Amino acid sequence: DIVPVILSGGSGTRLWPLSRAEKPKQFLSLTAAETMLQLTAARARGAGFAAPVVVANAAHADEVEAQLAAAGAEALVLEPVGRNTAPAIALAALSADPDAALLVMPSDHVIADVDAFHAAIRRALPLVEDGWLVTFGITPDAPETGYGYIQVGEEVAAGVHRVARFVEKPGRDVAEAMLAAGDHAWNGGIFLFRADAFVAALARFAPDMLAAVRASLDAARREGARVWPDADAFAASPSDSIDYAVMEKADRVAVVPVAMGWSDVGSWDALHTISEGDAQGNVVSGDVVALDAANCLVRAEGVRVAIAGVSDLIVVASGSDVLIVPRGRSQDVKLLLDAMKK
Ligand code: GDD
Ligand code: MG
Repeated sequence: DIVPVILSGGSGTRLWPLSRAEKPKQFLSLTAAETMLQLTAARARGAGFAAPVVVANAAHADEVEAQLAAAGAEALVLEPVGRNTAPAIALAALSADPDAALLVMPSDHVIADVDAFHAAIRRALPLVEDGWLVTFGITPDAPETGYGYIQVGEEVAAGVHRVARFVEKPGRDVAEAMLAAGDHAWNGGIFLFRADAFVAALARFAPDMLAAVRASLDAARREGARVWPDADAFAASPSDSIDYAVMEKADRVAVVPVAMGWSDVGSWDALHTISEGDAQGNVVSGDVVALDAANCLVRAEGVRVAIAGVSDLIVVASGSDVLIVPRGRSQDVKLLLDAMKK
């Protein structure tokens, strides 16, 4: 069976005022009644899947357990500090059976077409069993600079291609050129490989990281499903993403291009785009009254919001915090947070 590995480490400030340090994006209900974490777990459940391994910050242990209570987790590995995705995935890989296929998934993405996702996984499995590291490629529809790009190379199995190269978070010009060339996909941040194949790649390209993570697990404290790696040993690991530390360097790396309605929901604008609005194009949740409003995103948590005679507005109210920006400007949340710190 495939072992789902769910990464729950993001700090998620881009969806302020809903996402906060103590409640980042993966713990929020954004597209459904279920939270992003719950939707992620549900996406890899049932025939062919084992119980998930969740890798999360230690501060979020109770939140993760509460949210996954119904489904349960095989293991909840709790990081004392964030060291980015490569050490987080190493914790899972060293905790799993060496021959287990690991499906690494960010906990805060949307995949609308789960059947397409499962079909892509099935296409990749024979190569995974053969030791390949596989990633999933999303057809780009804009020159986004917040994603990694993958140049899709020759087909090595039906629907599975060799990765020609990775380009992590390119500048605008480079992104536009890759979009125009038509042979690049976005890196969806989802990976499939055998645990031993990933550990072997770490041994070759990031031996210090592997040693630190291994030491942290050798000295781990365990209680039920919870695992606390030794804090000093884990903190000694270099901080790096799986993309830089492993995927860009390894030899047998493949990409499965897949159209599955993927979004990383990186902003309120993105949420508006992927959500089904009402007849006026409004996407509302919570205690909201909207009169003569169109194409707005309005969320009210713990307060009531009333709007009239406006269009293309984003309003998010949570407790004592309110965000108001026109559509297209939700990336300014970052600037606003900086300004509020001063
Ligand atoms: N457990 C744990 N620990 N999870 C982590 C950590 C960590 O230290 N750091 C990040 N994560 C989780 C985040 O919660 C997120 O779900 C996922 O790993 C990816 O991390 P991001 O920090 O969001 O990466 P990114 O958006 O900059 O880039 C990656 O994802 C893009 C797609 O969303 C790259 O893989 C890009 O190439 C890719 O396009
Ligand atoms: Mg991200």
